[in-house]
Amino acid sequence: MSDIAKLEIDGKVYELPVFIGSENEKAIDISKLRDLTGCITLDSGYKNTGATKSSITFLDGEEGILHYRGYKIEELAEKATFLEVSYLLIYGELPTIHELKDFEANIKKHTLVHEDMKRFFEAYPAQAHPMGVLSSMISSLSTFYPESLDPNRSEAKKNLTVCRLIAKLPTLAAWAYKNSMRHPLMYPRNEYNYCQNFLYMMFAMPTEDYKLDPVVVDALNKLLILHADHEQNCSTSTVRIVGSSQANLYSTVSAGISALWGPLHGGANQEVIEMLEAIHEDGGNVDKWVTKAKDKNDPFRLMGFGHRVYKNFDPRAKIIKKTCDDVLEKLGVQDPLLEIAKKLEKVALEDEYFRSRNLYPNVDFYSGIIYKAIGIPTEMFTVMFALGRLPGWIAQWKEMTEHKEPIGRPRQIYVGKRVREYVDIGKR
Ligand code: SDX
Repeated sequence: MSDIAKLEIDGKVYELPVFIGSENEKAIDISKLRDLTGCITLDSGYKNTGATKSSITFLDGEEGILHYRGYKIEELAEKATFLEVSYLLIYGELPTIHELKDFEANIKKHTLVHEDMKRFFEAYPAQAHPMGVLSSMISSLSTFYPESLDPNRSEAKKNLTVCRLIAKLPTLAAWAYKNSMRHPLMYPRNEYNYCQNFLYMMFAMPTEDYKLDPVVVDALNKLLILHADHEQNCSTSTVRIVGSSQANLYSTVSAGISALWGPLHGGANQEVIEMLEAIHEDGGNVDKWVTKAKDKNDPFRLMGFGHRVYKNFDPRAKIIKKTCDDVLEKLGVQDPLLEIAKKLEKVALEDEYFRSRNLYPNVDFYSGIIYKAIGIPTEMFTVMFALGRLPGWIAQWKEMTEHKEPIGRPRQIYVGKRVREYVDIGKR
């Protein structure tokens, strides 16, 4: 394969370098295109545009492959812990047992949030969506740690902010839920691991002992790993572009949380359950809803289906679907929504409309059924996605800053009015 691409414009031929990655992906480097030709490229939604060279996550949409730093997602989901995978994504290698113990101990030191932040929660209405609370709370952390605003902070200070974020996000997420229930806030306990602590802060009450279910803890660990990173998706691209202005990491991650909230992105897991509940209430007539999803005049889409990159099964959806069966069986939960989801998947995947567009279940299609079975309320589903995606956002931000990438500033083609004179309307 030649490492040169030729482009002819107005009869002149330009040669552009072709960059080939470690998995033989190819990109035409257009960084000098405008200087050379006076032209820019146009690519709405960046469907064909690479924003960076990254060593963090590799995914192959055609083959349904997903690797974190070269490790298969199937292996990590089965054998690793979420903090082990977080370390891998952020620092590039799986930790030794000592590195992992240090990382876990460091995080345990920072799980509490400043007592003044409790007053913030009291100002929110009970029905406040937890994603709105979380994005504000995470950005507000920067006001309690002003040293995080220094773009030239030392490695040690950068790592302290990383640990504070990983440690405090579960506390703030659980408190957003407790506050919405007007229940007493539960403080983190250091005898618990990361997933146990989150479940404790979510569901324990001061009046009784809380019994952790290992099936639930394991399911949460797996779900968080499966959501940990996904290369240059919408929210990660948001983190990279906000971080490229040298904004502090707290507000950079807060921007990522806001982008993730959208129903076309991380908000889809909440939409999937609401869709399945609507189908269930409508008598479970799956064919009717598949027809609606295909109707161009109907805004309804099959939530949890389709993906910008996967044109085959999302490998995460395969693992989550299997985990669904395991967890519900172990918990003795019979959820009619799971049967509806499986029927919906079967009908859709036999339908020409979905097959011709390569629309398969994505990570959000089955995840909500597990969250529901382990007691997570629907409005908290996208918060769970954010909890999982945090190490990926941090890793991508860290890579962008270490590569000293320039501030993100795309160009445009102007299609508005040509220059015209101002006419006074006789105001004076
Ligand atoms: C995530 O990027 C990532 O990696 C994201 C993510 C991550 O880990 O970060 O994987 C997480 O965001 C998963 C996606 C969750 N979103 C949903 O489940 C919402 C439903 N899905 C769609 O809205 C859609 O599939 C997207 C947004 C996911 C992808 O949209 P694209 O790539 O812009 O594709 P498109 O909208 O151009 O669709 C192509 C065609 C269109 O039909 P035609 O114009 O060709 O006739 O497929 C149709 C669309 O109408 N289509 C759907 C559909 N998804 C696409 N039709 C019905 N139901 C759907 N779900």
